[in-house]
Formats: sequence, C-alpha cells, structure tokens
Amino acid sequence: MRILVTGGAGYIGSHTLIQLLREGHNVLVYDNYSNSSPEALNRVKQIANADFNVCEGDIQDAGKLNEAFGSFRPEAVMHFAGLKAVGESNEKPLEYYAQNVSGSIELLKVMQRHECRRIVFSSSATVYGNAKYLPYDEHHPMQPTNPYGRTKYFVEEIIRDWTASWGEASAILLRYFNPVGADPSGRIGEDPNGMPNNLVPYISQVAVGRLKHLKIFGADYETRDGTGERDYIHVEDLARAHLAAIEFSEATTGCEAINVGTGGGATVFEMIKAFEHASGQVVPYEIGPRRDGDVARSLAAVDKAERLLGWRAKLSVADMCKTTWNWQSNNPYGYGSK
Ligand code: NAD
Ligand code: WQD
Repeated sequence: MRILVTGGAGYIGSHTLIQLLREGHNVLVYDNYSNSSPEALNRVKQIANADFNVCEGDIQDAGKLNEAFGSFRPEAVMHFAGLKAVGESNEKPLEYYAQNVSGSIELLKVMQRHECRRIVFSSSATVYGNAKYLPYDEHHPMQPTNPYGRTKYFVEEIIRDWTASWGEASAILLRYFNPVGADPSGRIGEDPNGMPNNLVPYISQVAVGRLKHLKIFGADYETRDGTGERDYIHVEDLARAHLAAIEFSEATTGCEAINVGTGGGATVFEMIKAFEHASGQVVPYEIGPRRDGDVARSLAAVDKAERLLGWRAKLSVADMCKTTWNWQSNNPYGYGSK
C-alpha cells in the first residue's frame, strides 16, 4: 500500500516506518525536521534494508502537501506530525493550534482533494484529563487540561466530523499512553531537543552521565509508593498498533478512537529500579514538589484495541528500559554530537 507518513522522522514515526517497510509498504515521509533529524531516516533505511521517498515540508504548506499527494498518490496517511510539549504549549498556545490543528485541517483538505480516504492519527491519553475512573476507557469524558491536549481533542473532533461528511472516509484515532523504548538495533530512539520533559529520556540521560540527577515530581501521591503511576508502552508495540490500525481502516468506514497502552502501570520509583537493573548504572534522584497538571495515575483500558484491531502489547517494562539504554549508551548525544 502507498502510505504518506507525516512526521515520519520523529521518535514514533521512525519506529513505525521500520515495520511498514518490513511489511513491504511503499512509503513517503513528509516532515519539516522541526523536532527531528534526517539521520533518523538514513538509519531506518539501513535497519529495514529498504528505501522510501522523503519530502521536506510543513503540513501547514498546502501547496507542498498538494504536490506530494499529486506525485505519490497515497492510499492512506499516518499523521504523526505536530508539536508535543505540554509545558511549551502553555507558553505558545497559538503555535500549537496553528501546527497541530490548522496543519491537520490542511492535511485533511488535501487528502479529500486527492480522494485519499484513510487516516491513522496520533492522539494522546492526555485528551481525557483528570480521571473520573480508572482505567480510562474510550468513553471516559474528555477534558484536557492544557493547550497541547486540547489540540489533540479538537483534531479528533475535526476528523470525526470529516469522516461523518464523507461516507467512504475511515479514521483511527490512536490514543497513546506513555510511549518509551527504542528499536532493538540501538540505532534509532528518542532524542529530545534540550532538557527532556519526560521521565524515561530524563532517566537515561542521567544514567549516561549527561544530567546529574533526576528530580522526582512528588512522592506524596496516593499510589503504592507515593510516586506517579503511568501506563508505559513500548514504541515497537505502538508501531505494530499502527499497522493493525491501517489494515482495519481498509475494511471499514467511520471513525474509531482506540487506546494504545498495556493496561498495567509502573511508578517513578519502579521505573528507576527497572532502568538501573537494565543499565547497570545508578540513577541518583532527589524528591521535589509535584509538577503542575500531573495526575497520580494513568492507565489504559485495552480491550477495544484487542477487539477491533486484534492487537495487544507484548513487551515489558524491562524491554523498554533495556532498549532505551541500548540506544542511549550507543548514542549518548542522540543523532547529534556533544
Ligand atoms: P516527535 O517530535 O519526535 O515527532 C514529530 C515529527 O513531526 C518530527 O519529526 C517533527 O519534525 C515533525 N513535525 C512537527 N511539526 C511539523 C509540521 N508542521 N510539518 C511537518 N512535520 C512536522 O514526536 P513523537 O514523540 O514521535 O510523537 C509523534 C506524534 O504522537 C505527535 O503528534 C505527538 O503529539 C503524538 N504523541 C506522542 C506521545 C509521546 O509521548 N511521544 C504521546 C502521545 C501522542
Ligand atoms: C511520567 C511520570 C511525572 C519527569 C506526558 C504528556 C502526555 C503524553 C506523554 C504526549 C509522572 C514523573 C517526569 C521528571 C518525574 N505526551 N516525572 N520527573 O506526564 O504522564 O505524560 O507524556 O501526548 O501528554 O503529558 O509523562 O514522562 O512526563 O511523566 O518525576 O523529570 O514521571 O511526574 O508521574 P506524562 P512524563
């Protein structure tokens, strides 16, 4: 199948590409490299031993998108492109609405113009907001608590309206929980710009000696050890979920939101321990105050993914830590250099 992948050079996109290529799909990556490196794509080609097309462009650039669709004629789109930092979205909400919401609208318009009727969209568990009950199922009310989360919520609603207006259209909104881990080759992985915002990249930069210690954001939550609990999902499992979703969309019309998690959770202390075990390194930490906007626990209900997509997560927290360490220790400065 011909699949156009927006944001394919990024963390989750690059891991998904490997599996798309292994399945023999024909791919065009459309990325502006605002948060990624073309080097990730070179490495994907080597790992998968396969080639694909690349177009450097912004999803807000309707002309460029139109050209890419005209020449590649995709049958489906995987839409990863967007901005994703919660804290930054509080400071630059308009930038987040422009890139994530306006950019997605441009993409949908061009899709329709070229009669491309299938999309898999990268949504987030952050659309749910504070838990009314756990685990979050797909019917949980959606009350995102920051501009980033609201962009995901609005794009979901826009895509839902778009599919309702075009009987042949099919959309899968994948609500990722906490993606971590890396390809087992150790050649691609998460490479955040500047200070990492998320727990696992932070821990791995401490373990490799780039950062001095981890600051734990609160140890007074109502969880088994007082630290925040999350449903971490291996990026390789997440990539497989995209393949299952694109297959599902071939046979269906309409719009489905589907959680992508494991159904189980790990606390910050448990993640530190697992990472120390996987890396053989000590991860020094300090306990600080809670981070604004954080919830105590986040866990996915995963039966819908299993029922509709026949997909379930296979990899463990130990696998997530082992592959993260393999990537970080082989590439201490990610795709760049010190
Ligand atoms: P990432 O930043 O590594 O990848 C995003 C890619 O999109 C990058 O290559 C970036 O250069 C590109 N991009 C950004 N804006 C663009 C634009 N306007 N035009 C073209 N390309 C653009 O992020 P990721 O972790 O791989 O996340 C992928 C998607 O999944 C995002 O939409 C993100 O919001 C969503 N998501 C991520 C997580 C997570 O924890 N990583 C969780 C839930 C949802
Ligand atoms: C996990 C746990 C922190 C960093 C975020 C986004 C969400 C989604 C995934 C995109 C929490 C604790 C963290 C640190 C810490 N992204 N922590 N010290 O907050 O669950 O979700 O990423 O859609 O939208 O909000 O993930 O990795 O930041 O935090 O103690 O330096 O680790 O308090 O309990 P989060 P996270």
